[in-house]
Amino acid sequence: ARSLTRDSIPRLQDHAPGQRQVLFAACELGVFDLLAEAPEPLGAAAVAARLGTSSHGTELLLDTCVSLKLLQVETKTGKALYQNTELSSTYLVRASPKCQGNMLRYLARTTYLCWGHLTQAVRDGRNQYLEAFGVPSDQLFSAIYRSEDERLQFMRGLQDVWSVSGRPVLGAFDLSPFPLICDVGGCSGALAKECTSLYPACRVAVFDTPEVVQTAEKHFSFPEAARISFCAGGLRRCSMHGVWPKSFLGSAKPEEVSRGHPGLRTPDLSICGH
Ligand SMILES: C[S@@+](CC[C@H](N)C(=O)[O-])C[C@H]1O[C@@H](n2cnc3c(N)ncnc32)[C@H](O)[C@@H]1O
Repeated sequence: ARSLTRDSIPRLQDHAPGQRQVLFAACELGVFDLLAEAPEPLGAAAVAARLGTSSHGTELLLDTCVSLKLLQVETKTGKALYQNTELSSTYLVRASPKCQGNMLRYLARTTYLCWGHLTQAVRDGRNQYLEAFGVPSDQLFSAIYRSEDERLQFMRGLQDVWSVSGRPVLGAFDLSPFPLICDVGGCSGALAKECTSLYPACRVAVFDTPEVVQTAEKHFSFPEAARISFCAGGLRRCSMHGVWPKSFLGSAKPEEVSRGHPGLRTPDLSICGH
């Protein structure tokens, strides 16, 4: 399971553009969920009938998924029957706790849409958010958060990612000496959740924009809620070199980030930046 985790996420994201579209389409159509729920492997005609898709297109999609190792096929009495591989059962089936479906949907709708404008990006020498989404191109997050649904999609995507990568990343450092950790740009609080689970003595302050904090509090639950606090504010644009980014936090003062944690001194606070 360890090597599946380490190797598989890059494998899902490393597909060539056409292959990625196959992955996105199969997820969006619900191919992996259908095969997970079916009591036995299904033929292309049965998959097409249940998904309401064309039989020819479905067969091509399923066979391409087999070549990408997202599905496996066996032939019984001359008929091809498809089922999920361990990779797709773990990361592509909605009911799996490690499902990466939200992150893949975000990549399909945002990141890979921009690839369609590569030629123009090379001509212009700048990103293509304006062309792809009609939003100003200098602010990455006005493109990612272009609607409330898209903001939630991105936040759910980060929950997916940290549900798999949170422990290995946080475990790579010894954060146990720190009683309060601040995740600057902490978004949905997904990393904070993993942090409180890995370090039972710590509390985490999640700093992000007011809209993101509001969405996180509305849509996500935290088993260790008493140890996670959200702080809304805005970051100024500057690079962060020090441990304590006094000039980094714009509309929130350091004291506000540590609000609710009286008595903490600066060295007690560790910063995880985005
Ligand atoms: C790439 S995300 C990382 C989220 C989080 N650290 C994680 O890995 O789950 C960057 C975060 O920074 C926040 N952010 C971007 N610009 C910001 C600003 N000017 N002020 C406050 N937060 C900001 C975004 O809302 C977003 O949640």
